[in-house]
Amino acid sequence: MTCITTAVDGDGICILTIDQPGRSMNVIDGAFAREFAGAIAQAAGDAAVKGILITSGKPAFLAGADLMELEAVFERVADTPTAALYQGFAGFSATLRKMETCGKPVACALNGTALGGGFEIALASHYRVVADDPGIKLGLPEVQVGLLPGAGGTQRVPRLIGIQLALPLLLEGRQLSPQKARDTGLAHAVVPAGELLAAAKAWLLSPAATATQPWDAKGYKVPGGAGGMDPRSVQTFMAAGAMLRDKTYGNYPAPAAILSCVYEGTQLPMDTALRVESKYFTSLFLTPVARNMIRTLFINKGKADKLSRRPADVPRNKIRKIGMLGAGMMGAGIAYVAAMAGITVVLVDQTQEAAERGKGYAAKLLADAVAKGRMTKAKADGILSLIQPTTSYDGLSDAGLVVEAVFEDRALKAEVTRRAEAVMPPTAIFGSNTSTLPITGLAEASSRPERFIGIHFFSPVDKMPLVEVIRGERTGDEALAMALDFVQAIRKTPITVNDGRGFFTSRFCGAYINEGQTLLLEGVAPALIENAGKMAGMPVGPLALADETAIDLAYKIFRQWKLDLGDSFVPGSGASVTTRMVEEFGRPGRKGGKGFYDYPEGGKKRLWPDLATHWPQRPADQQPDVEEVKTRLLYAQALDAVRCLEAGVLTTPEDGDVGAILGLGYAPWTGGPFSLIDTVGVARFVAECDALAAKHGERFSPPRLLRDMATRGDRFYPAPAAKQAA
Ligand code: NAI
Repeated sequence: MTCITTAVDGDGICILTIDQPGRSMNVIDGAFAREFAGAIAQAAGDAAVKGILITSGKPAFLAGADLMELEAVFERVADTPTAALYQGFAGFSATLRKMETCGKPVACALNGTALGGGFEIALASHYRVVADDPGIKLGLPEVQVGLLPGAGGTQRVPRLIGIQLALPLLLEGRQLSPQKARDTGLAHAVVPAGELLAAAKAWLLSPAATATQPWDAKGYKVPGGAGGMDPRSVQTFMAAGAMLRDKTYGNYPAPAAILSCVYEGTQLPMDTALRVESKYFTSLFLTPVARNMIRTLFINKGKADKLSRRPADVPRNKIRKIGMLGAGMMGAGIAYVAAMAGITVVLVDQTQEAAERGKGYAAKLLADAVAKGRMTKAKADGILSLIQPTTSYDGLSDAGLVVEAVFEDRALKAEVTRRAEAVMPPTAIFGSNTSTLPITGLAEASSRPERFIGIHFFSPVDKMPLVEVIRGERTGDEALAMALDFVQAIRKTPITVNDGRGFFTSRFCGAYINEGQTLLLEGVAPALIENAGKMAGMPVGPLALADETAIDLAYKIFRQWKLDLGDSFVPGSGASVTTRMVEEFGRPGRKGGKGFYDYPEGGKKRLWPDLATHWPQRPADQQPDVEEVKTRLLYAQALDAVRCLEAGVLTTPEDGDVGAILGLGYAPWTGGPFSLIDTVGVARFVAECDALAAKHGERFSPPRLLRDMATRGDRFYPAPAAKQAA
């Protein structure tokens, strides 16, 4: 299989075009790495070749490492001696080093996005020219999957632009536009796409063409680095170290490894520095964090994006027009993302003014994009014109899908369902964005329950990548397929779940809030509860999340469930806190300006001081250890995820892990609740939960499914292969 075509032109320029067959994007896998090494060696050894030009035959230059292949390496990790792993990873880095020292100038023509190893090929080239297209992204995002750029990225970026600019790029995995890359000093030139190859070639044939890198010159010093670090760089390292501790609480080993790589690298010659980088890369590879993040955020997310759960026998659907009932916070957001995907939206609300306000939300987001140069005014106007605000349902007569996001009120939802179905074509489907009401019950208002489904978005819709698609008892395959096609069209990631109270995500989120409130009831200091949540890796503490999702909404939901279920409804142990917050103290949450926190106008939120009066706190020496609180918060949710799997709400651990992280920000370093349990070990997790149950109550008692797995020695994901006996 040929991944690279080689052609030497009349001027002695060897053009290497990367174009992997059968893939929409080039990636670095074993076959590519071998072929690339061979192509470079051949060009270097060919006396007729004066210079090397690298480009891509696909719209993107190269997307980075083949994560599927990396996943396979993870599978074998227990059987692979560390030295062999190191050799494997160091191989591609060594190829790039050979390329930059081969004695011939190398120009990289970046015709499209270059990330990770793709960008590292460019960094090792002597000249980088990029096509003038704001859609192109350049960067080293490895940190986001628990790794570091292992083919020279941590060494060449500081050498090219200095430590101060390099560290944020490496530590946050920031991606740059071509212009930004040029302004920062990571690219030499940006030219119109049609002139790209000519520009690269012109440089190769010009007197300016050089076959050396600045860092190989005698007496070279890393800007701000080696040879006695300048005080500003020392400060940068110290600030970065402090920032890391602040942000990651030690959950993520990659940023610290990157910092060490850069620091040590600045003191070393390039060849040694690259070996240090490979050593750190290998050490990260051996942590569960990288494996868990790659599996959930790339492999499983990728499968969800490709609609792996879509009923295969239903023909693909392209929805061109939707009806959006309710132009409030969610309806406005959904209208925006649909219009962005080129879908016409009839945006219905009770008054024309409310509908226009919903459209105004999209107008503002589009105006911001234009102001930031991410979109032309003409394009923004075209997108905005797709949203048609109205009070009339007439426009739904040719919609392929109608989504409702009116108030969370069953009777109201029933009414809008009936009104919409009176107008919608018989082939269209109806999706409810309810966050808590079971779909099967809502579908009772529908004359075609087989075409009724839950399409649950997250707020803010334009930023949140997940959509939870909920299948009611009577939802048919066609509705499921159409809903999934729609989610894919608007470029979100779907998980598919079965019906239940709160489905998966709302229930899972509730388990976190409930545990936080239970801790409060037990007299644990609110600041400890909140900090423990963040230290566990959650975006916010459980009390802050209760404020964000609205305490009064939770209160209404509890009341509704009590009405629906009567005595069989058993509220969580923290539910009384919610009730008192609403009934006694009138604190509805963030939207209402007061909840577990106060939200002073223009100021920073702070914990409501009276919490300690209403829920007396234990003396300081009787407060629990922060590790115990972290464990309780993480495990309470993980157990609930297992219960969802046991109850059939979730049908796979993959959906649970993807949904937990993408929908709710559940500690990404864990890879999600199921990955966390695997990492801890099912048997150990069960034993720890039994101990928690004895101390804190039945909610920690592991479900049958988990006990059986522990007995059988099962895991949720395949185990790395066992080490062979020597
Ligand atoms: P919202 O209160 O901001 O908007 C509801 C909109 O529905 C209002 O503009 C209202 O005028 C409109 N409306 C009421 N009756 C109507 C009718 N008969 N016809 C047309 N429009 C009507 O509420 P929000 O936050 O947008 O929530 C809407 C739905 O989405 C609820 O079911 C909620 O549970 C769900 N949801 C909310 C999330 C959130 O974070 N706020 C997240 C996920 C789902």
